[in-house]
Amino acid sequence: MKPTVTYQGLTFEPYITRERIDARINEIAADIMRDCAGKSPLFICVLNGAFPFASDLFRAVEGLDAEISFIRLQSYSGTASTGAVKEVLGLCDDIQNRTIIIVEDIIDTGNTIYRLVNQLRDKKPEDIKVATLLFKPDALARPIKPDYVGFEIPTKFIIGFGLDLDGKARNLNDIYILKEEK
Ligand code: IMP
Ligand code: MG
Repeated sequence: MKPTVTYQGLTFEPYITRERIDARINEIAADIMRDCAGKSPLFICVLNGAFPFASDLFRAVEGLDAEISFIRLQSYSGTASTGAVKEVLGLCDDIQNRTIIIVEDIIDTGNTIYRLVNQLRDKKPEDIKVATLLFKPDALARPIKPDYVGFEIPTKFIIGFGLDLDGKARNLNDIYILKEEK
């Protein structure tokens, strides 16, 4: 892990190590395998940010008869949520009567996930569960309760392990947090 990383003149410091992320993903996978025993869930990875989490989580549920698909949404500009969520790439799969596990990188205001859950509900799945690597409970503005949460964090801006600053920093292996001005 680097002592600091800089993007667009902003300095970030280490926050969650890859080792902790890996360990937590394995715990979440065990919970999902227990809850979905005997089912054939469809994981839906929310691109772009959730791809490293979804990749690791999906391979950690090796024992499940699971499938994965992808949807692309976007709501952020810079370090603040724009509020408006636009769907960029839709879902082609038939999800009627299926157990869906939405895989998100982070829930901040909850706007993105709230809209997605409601859209998917219209397609009559049996059940929708939400797995998010990160959750900012104090920023939540929608009635949403994720079923699987990697880490609850304060309302601060973070990057790495899929999370970006205007498209950059997704390839950092660890998670870094915006350094407070002193
Ligand atoms: P929400 O709709 O406000 O819950 O925001 C969800 C989306 O905003 C996430 O899927 C991320 O793409 C992005 N986001 C929220 N917080 C952060 C952050 O701290 N760093 C990077 N992206 C974030
Ligand atoms: Mg996202």
